Amino acid sequence: MKLKMMYSFLNSDLNIIEKELKKAIQSKSPLLRQASLHLLQAGGKRIRPVFVLLAGRFGQYDIHVLKNVAVALELIHTASLVHDDVIDDAELRRGELTVKAKWDNRIAMYTGDYIFARSLELMTVIDNVQAHKILSNTIVEVCIGEIEQIKDKYKFDQNLRTYLRRIKRKTALLIAVSCQLGAIAAGVEEEIHKKIYKFGYFVGMAFQITDDVLDFTGTEKELGKPAGGDLLQGNITLPVLFARENPSIRAEIEKVHEKMTKKEINQVISLIKTSDAIEKSLKISDRYLTKALAVLEELPPNKAKKTLRDIAKFIGRRKY
Ligand code: IPE
Ligand code: IPE
Ligand code: MG
Ligand code: MG
Repeated sequence: MKLKMMYSFLNSDLNIIEKELKKAIQSKSPLLRQASLHLLQAGGKRIRPVFVLLAGRFGQYDIHVLKNVAVALELIHTASLVHDDVIDDAELRRGELTVKAKWDNRIAMYTGDYIFARSLELMTVIDNVQAHKILSNTIVEVCIGEIEQIKDKYKFDQNLRTYLRRIKRKTALLIAVSCQLGAIAAGVEEEIHKKIYKFGYFVGMAFQITDDVLDFTGTEKELGKPAGGDLLQGNITLPVLFARENPSIRAEIEKVHEKMTKKEINQVISLIKTSDAIEKSLKISDRYLTKALAVLEELPPNKAKKTLRDIAKFIGRRKY
């Protein structure tokens, strides 16, 4: 089943969110408006708003409250992508030029900041100090995750723990918090929203692991962003950590540097793909998904639960 089909019952609410997203980034500055709209209109899975809405189903579901949280979370994600494309020197995102490619790094810096600020503005409708603390802490963690990744570039001897800690910060926490804040905004009691958070955390870990696998196995057409860039950029992801266990592949991996030709890097990527590294990485992703499904079972029954289960399963075999 396609991802969007899994939550078609949310369609009218997701349409509201699309409208609110566009409204939220209106600006007196044409440049800020154009640069923000550019990425937003390119699409994206909108998976974080979907998690907010589904989590809201565990409490008093009011779209007029939840929409603000959902839009805020998607905007934080969007802003982090604008900045991420600067540090990853990425040309393409969602099948379109990145903000840094269409304009430049300076414009991308302030477009990202602008989108961040807009998301905080929307969150002001949530009268709950805890929710704001959770959100600002998450942004802090994303910054640490991205900075750690820059610091650890081309460090081929890093361990699994370093990798897991980094993806927790740069990706999993935002997904966890999308689930938790959706629940909090719907007045869900603490015991339950902590469980929903855990579900989101496990799903988020699997989400980034599959993203890292897709960088090896996917195509630009499927992903809307170039594949194969991580290793060339020195971003040591899970498939690399596993492939490294083979001494002859390890020797090739350690020769990787920024100025390698496409042909040279593709040879190393092929070696990694033909090893058991991809399979082993997907096994780790599956382990997180199994944990996510187990936490889900502890939650009260409702329509959202089945959809959350379907989404978790989708993530394990996703191609985009
Ligand atoms: C991309 O996120 C960055 C990661 C955290 C892996 P998504 O895969 O959710 O990107 P869009 O929003 O669908 O473009
Ligand atoms: C995703 O980083 C995490 C953030 C944007 C904070 P990646 O660099 O792995 O994501 P893609 O591959 O550019 O989408
Ligand atoms: Mg990155
Ligand atoms: Mg990137």
